[in-house]
Amino acid sequence: MGSSLGAVLITNGHEVRWVAADRSDSTHQRAKADGFAAMDDIATGVMGAEVVLSVCPPEFAGDVAHQVADAGFTGLFVDANAVSPDSARGAASTIAGAGATMVDGGIIGPPVRGGARNLLYLSGDANDVATVARLFDGTPVETVVLDAPIGGASATKMAFAGWTKGSSALLLAVRAMATAEGVTEGLDHAWQTMLPHLSEQLRRAAVGSAPKAWRFEAEMREIAATLDSVGLPAGFHEAAADVYARLAEFRDSTDVNPDEVIERLTH
Ligand SMILES: NC(=O)c1ccc[n+]([C@@H]2O[C@H](COP(=O)([O-])OP(=O)(O)OC[C@H]3O[C@@H](n4cnc5c(N)ncnc54)[C@H](OP(=O)(O)O)[C@@H]3O)[C@@H](O)[C@H]2O)c1
Repeated sequence: MGSSLGAVLITNGHEVRWVAADRSDSTHQRAKADGFAAMDDIATGVMGAEVVLSVCPPEFAGDVAHQVADAGFTGLFVDANAVSPDSARGAASTIAGAGATMVDGGIIGPPVRGGARNLLYLSGDANDVATVARLFDGTPVETVVLDAPIGGASATKMAFAGWTKGSSALLLAVRAMATAEGVTEGLDHAWQTMLPHLSEQLRRAAVGSAPKAWRFEAEMREIAATLDSVGLPAGFHEAAADVYARLAEFRDSTDVNPDEVIERLTH
């Protein structure tokens, strides 16, 4: 996702840097293909930069904010990760400690590279939000400015993904239960009779989620924390996190067999 946003920024005339240290070959290849300038470390990367865009697996978002603050960045930091509003507020406070300001971001939809629709929700100080939105003017990344403080864009993302990824995890879990009980024939009959769209939804949930399940686990825990913070039960998404954790071995698989995914959940 980060490379697709960077590629869009380059088409809009911006210089895009990235920090190469500790990153995998596939990240190196994406950054090179998109024409990003490689920086050895965060301190060099943020020096003279106007905006830092953080797009990484949610469990590392807080670390990235700390590293950017420790590097003495004083510009505009955009945390566009799938984190709870509390995590976003925590990152904003880290960033403020270094004299920088933060805009909260929430990305919905797959990378625009494949022609997909990509929404970037933004919240925080109105002037800072407008500055970030302008970077993407005229690009396929549709920015949506929320009239909300830091935490608003993250909460929007948590609510959206809480349904999409949470309901996928639930569907996978009930199918795995039926498989373990040896009643897939009965369930298939019930689905075809009453809810005929569910068979295809299950296939898409398995094939679409399994390669990214390792990353969804942390996102589900952020959603659970978000629900808990407003007095709602966190158990749905704690369980969804456990479901995705069991599928971590499918990381980056390109040829996922839905039956193997279901099987893996109970073995
Ligand atoms: N992909 C989507 O469709 C989508 C949609 C909406 C929102 N998002 C959000 O975008 C963020 C990234 O997701 P993604 O799908 O782009 O994941 P991804 O394909 O796994 O890419 C994550 C990138 O972050 C890098 N990274 C890993 N650990 C890091 C760290 N500690 N510090 C800095 N960079 C690190 C990875 O480098 P290595 O290769 O070295 O690990 C990789 O380049 C998440 O917060 C996600 O919720 C993604």
